[in-house]
Parts: sequence; structure tokens; C-alpha cells
Amino acid sequence: AESMAPSQDKDYVKIYIPKTPEQRKRIEASIANNFLFKNLDEEQYKDVIDAMVEKRVEKNEEIISQGGIGDFFYVVETGTFDVYVSKNGSAPELVHHYEAGGSFGELALMYNAPRAATVVTTSDAVLWALDRVTFRRILMENTSRKRRMYESFLEEVPILISLEPYERHKIADALESLYYEDNQLVIKQGDIGNSFYLIESGEARVTKVDEDGVEHELP
Ligand code: CMP
Repeated sequence: AESMAPSQDKDYVKIYIPKTPEQRKRIEASIANNFLFKNLDEEQYKDVIDAMVEKRVEKNEEIISQGGIGDFFYVVETGTFDVYVSKNGSAPELVHHYEAGGSFGELALMYNAPRAATVVTTSDAVLWALDRVTFRRILMENTSRKRRMYESFLEEVPILISLEPYERHKIADALESLYYEDNQLVIKQGDIGNSFYLIESGEARVTKVDEDGVEHELP
């Protein structure tokens, strides 16, 4: 396997797969709401798009086989996918679905481990595949840092207790730490809800204005 910090490798040659402006637009739309691609600088963002390969697949194709070797990380442009996990040789169990904007195949690349699940198309689909070296060089550091950072914290959150470890990873990918001063407003009653908040440290007060116009403090 490559070193843990391929970005330090001076011999590294960037992968450049020519693309039409239309293809670039389609990749940008596919990764626009994907947390793994947040916080990339301009050069990293360009390198990722340069390295991606378009893959058109038909319904019922096995894109990843559990136990196989990790070669690519995939982003879904269109189509739907089912994920199956077989534990200790038991019958495969459906554990997850993916659709446009989703991504999968990062675990084997991050941990140099066999594929942890089987991923199968449930419709014709278009994927963008990113090779393991580019994935590790650009996307891995941030992703594994965040998952490690929030792992034990998320295990303690009562509302998330029934989640599978992998589902908690996906939440860790989506989390962003925000800092508030004492007495600062976080959410105002009546606002549109855009975010779900977990308190990492500190305390918050919750109040509600009833129909009678009186503000009550909630537990
Ligand atoms: P990887 O192990 O490289 O290949 C299979 C992928 O399926 C895995 O990465 C994850 O991206 C994805 N996946 C989705 N749900 C699960 C799950 N419950 N357990 C393991 N992998 C999952």
C-alpha cells in the first residue's frame, strides 16, 4: 500500500483524465452537496475533478464486492444502489441505499482493508470513480480526522444510539463545529429548520412562546 501521507510523496504524478466542460459541470453538480468534498481548496478541487473517470453501468451490476480489493471511490451522478453486508458467512443483509449525490467505497481505501460491503445497481446509473491514490492524497486526511474526532462523542448521544457504526461515520462526515458565546442565540422559534444541533460542550437554554404570548423555559 501507499504511504499514509501520499501528499508528501514528491514523485507523485497527478492524474489528468480529459473532460468536456459538460462533464465537469455534471461532476460539480454530483459533489455539490457531498460533505466529503467540503473544505477542499481550489487546487484540490480541480485535482479531484481532473482525476475522476465516468462509469456508466446497467441495472443489477455489482460495482463493489464484499471482500474484494479497494481500487476506486465512487460518487453517484444518477441511478440507485443497494448495499449488502454478509456477516460471518451469513446471507447478505440489505443495509443501505444510495442515490444521486451519494458516495461509497471509501472504507477499503482509507483503511487498506477488504471491501466491507457489496454494492449493486438497482437501476441504470452514472458514476464518477476516483482512484485510490488521489482519494488518499486529497480526501482521506480530512475524512478520517473527522470520523476519529467525533467517534466517541457520537457513541454517547442518546438519539443516535440505535445507529450502526457506519451510519455514525456518515454523521461525523456531516458535522461541523460551531462556536457560540454565552447568551448567543442558536435557533429562534419560527425559523426555518436547516440544521440539527448536538451540544459538544457547554449548555443551552430552550424557551418557547405559547399562544398566550408568554415565554416558558423548557427542560
Ligand atoms: P468499502 O468497504 O470500500 O466498499 C463497500 C462500501 O459500502 C463501503 O466502503 C461503504 O462506502 C459502503 N457502505 C454503506 N453502508 C455500509 C455498512 N453498513 N457497512 C460497511 N460499508 C457500508
